[in-house]
Amino acid sequence: MKTYLVTGGAGFIGSNFIHYMFKKHENIKIINYDKLTYAGNLENLKSVENNSNYLFIQGDICDKDKLQQVFEKHDIDYVVNFAAESHVDRSIREPETFVKTNVLGTVTLLNAAKNDWILGDGFKSGKKYLQVSTDEVYGSLGKDGYFTEKTPLDSHSPYSSSKASADLMVKAYYDTYKMPLNITRCSNNYGAYQFPEKLIPLIINNCLNKRELPIYGDGLNIRDWLYVEDHCKAIDMVMENGKVGQVYNIGGHNERTNIHIVKTIISYIHDNVDSSVDESLIRYVEDRKGHDRRYGIDPEKIKTELGWYPETRFEDGIIKTIKWYLDNKDWMENVTSGDYQNYYKKMYL
Ligand code: NAD
Ligand code: DAU
Repeated sequence: MKTYLVTGGAGFIGSNFIHYMFKKHENIKIINYDKLTYAGNLENLKSVENNSNYLFIQGDICDKDKLQQVFEKHDIDYVVNFAAESHVDRSIREPETFVKTNVLGTVTLLNAAKNDWILGDGFKSGKKYLQVSTDEVYGSLGKDGYFTEKTPLDSHSPYSSSKASADLMVKAYYDTYKMPLNITRCSNNYGAYQFPEKLIPLIINNCLNKRELPIYGDGLNIRDWLYVEDHCKAIDMVMENGKVGQVYNIGGHNERTNIHIVKTIISYIHDNVDSSVDESLIRYVEDRKGHDRRYGIDPEKIKTELGWYPETRFEDGIIKTIKWYLDNKDWMENVTSGDYQNYYKKMYL
């Protein structure tokens, strides 16, 4: 039985990954190690909390001693590092937190795994570390072309620069120690349990509350959207069969402008929930500083080497996602109470 240490498992993608893995594999144990920042929410994991193969530990990936204890106590085979500060707008306001968690935290975690896994000149067999990174490390594209694994790192925001820095440290652990590891770089995810500071859940929530819908700049920036379960499937496949030391890009050629995304959500809610919700709610607001224009992933490597492909078309995934938020209004109410109101005021009002 393999034991996974999933860091940041109470966040959006981490919690989807834990659900995905328990559905997919019968014989695994998962330890979810999460600091529970504003973005971490144990409600996301209610249905697995009594599973005897699941354990939650509240902890910070910057806490060297606590990590060492976890590795000493449990025989960890795989580490999947989701733990991060993940929101670009917050990184523009407070970059230091991003450097601390995303860079220092990653190195502290890498080191804890290395110390536990090292054996003679090499590593114990069957161990692997996977760093969940992002397409944002490659910077911004013009009208044409895609990010491949060979595209040079050219990050712009404090968030993406902290993730690029972390990637370079992960690479250093392979180049220097030959630690068994992979880096995955995924495009924008959407789906259940995403915190409503990100575009899709924010727009859904605002539509349902008939709040204005803030669109940065001209609304023509492009993101390459991937349904979160397709991302989870890719991580599982890279963990199992990815060649050690390699980077894998993950994305499904679902490029859409922001205004298209917003109009798609308005149209569904107008037709199915509340006909008074319409495009008059749209407000073009000041652009994000250093706003990357276009992201687009070339997923050829993961497709040909590992046979991964995205199963969910954007048109289906966005409807599933809107329906999930409609069916889980309590979840949205919980996460938007308290601190979220202050964040929203500072950002938008
Ligand atoms: P999220 O903000 O929803 O969740 C982050 C989780 O990490 C939270 O549960 C939080 O409590 C935890 N965390 C934060 N700091 C921590 C620390 N110091 N120690 C332990 N836990 C800590 O993020 P997400 O959207 O689920 O993203 C997960 C990972 O995937 C991140 O590394 C992000 O960079 C990467 N990623 C995200 C996307 C996306 O579209 N959301 C796309 C590509 C890559
Ligand atoms: O590309 C992968 C990245 O995708 C991940 O690494 C990040 O963790 C994740 O947050 C996401 O980053 P983005 O900045 O692309 O996501 P966000 O949802 O914040 O914004 C998507 C687009 O929508 C972006 O062009 C900015 C725009 N936007 C966003 C918000 C919150 C708006 O126009 N209005 C808004 O209110």
